[in-house]
Amino acid sequence: MPLIEVNNLNVQFETPDGQVTAVNGISFALDKGQTLGIVGESGSGKSQAVLAMMGLLAINGRASGQALFDGQDLLSLPANALNKIRGNRVAMIFQDPMTSLNPYLTVERQMTEVLEFHKGMTRSQARARSVQALDAVKIPEAARRIGMYPHEFSGGMRQRVMIAMALLCEPDVLIADEPTTALDVTVQAQIIALLRDLQRDHGTAIVMITHDLGVVAGLCDQVMVLYGGRVMEQGSAESIFYQPTHPYTVGLLGAIPRLEQGGGALVAIPGAPPNMARLPSGCPFCERCTLSEARCLNTRPALSPVSDRPDVLRACHKSVAEVTQHARELSL
Ligand SMILES: Nc1ncnc2c1ncn2[C@@H]1O[C@H](COP(=O)(O)OP(=O)(O)OP(=O)(O)O)[C@@H](O)[C@H]1O
Ligand code: SF4
Ligand SMILES: [Mg+2]
Repeated sequence: MPLIEVNNLNVQFETPDGQVTAVNGISFALDKGQTLGIVGESGSGKSQAVLAMMGLLAINGRASGQALFDGQDLLSLPANALNKIRGNRVAMIFQDPMTSLNPYLTVERQMTEVLEFHKGMTRSQARARSVQALDAVKIPEAARRIGMYPHEFSGGMRQRVMIAMALLCEPDVLIADEPTTALDVTVQAQIIALLRDLQRDHGTAIVMITHDLGVVAGLCDQVMVLYGGRVMEQGSAESIFYQPTHPYTVGLLGAIPRLEQGGGALVAIPGAPPNMARLPSGCPFCERCTLSEARCLNTRPALSPVSDRPDVLRACHKSVAEVTQHARELSL
């Protein structure tokens, strides 16, 4: 049995403009120690998908489908049962550490509270364990700095504090929502390396959300590419990176800064992400896709396995050969 199994997850919001489907029928399974990357541009539904799993949707949002963790459906668990799992067996880190850190409490107070609540530790046991956790994420002089307030740490260090806090209870699953987006490239690489070490040492499964395929390259086993709330392509990281079968994946790969081009010269996908309240009736990507043709506007391509690679799913009317040719022309 996989550690996490999401089946046909949907997230809908009631808005003044009508109902918006932010996440439309996504499914995945994740084993212990594995990493799934969820990739897509802003608004593609990445955060809402995981917030739904954690029972953290806004008041106008509703989730349906299944999100099984260790055999229990997180979507239908009562609040008190979910509270016991959240922050304990399934932890989440956010792009902005201040989302999960309280600015008015010292780091020590926030960390020890988690351990007292979830693990029933005494304050001094909890303090010792917290210092150890800060050490593990390479915060220098952890025993002294634990007494500081969040704003007394630099951005990168604050991100580490949040990771230490998320990992305090040694969760089975860590959900990381763009944890490095606000950081410079060097710190970003350090944080990714840190997550990789923690995963190796503890067998934590990770769901890594990012808009930058480059970030997930060295970290993920599987990748799910979302656009307009739907899966465009899903499969092993290797197939997504080296043999992309969807024009949107090809576009995202083209947008990764290349070292040989001095780290710059990224080719952004032309146009902007769609308005979720007015998605096209055909392929959600049709307005921006260079391979788009008449049927793409009217008929939505089904998500189906690639014939000789059944572990890869794609939703596109064009053949794999046509998309491969297109990628080659862009010299990807
Ligand atoms: N409270 C809300 N009410 C209505 N619609 C919402 C609400 N929250 C999110 N949405 C819709 O859900 C869509 C997906 O949002 P989500 O936060 O998952 O995007 P994302 O992929 O995480 O983007 P980003 O990279 O910018 O974080 C948004 O485009 C928006 O239309
Ligand atoms: S279905 Fe058509 S518009 Fe959509 S990605 Fe494929 S070629 Fe492009
Ligand atoms: Mg988001």
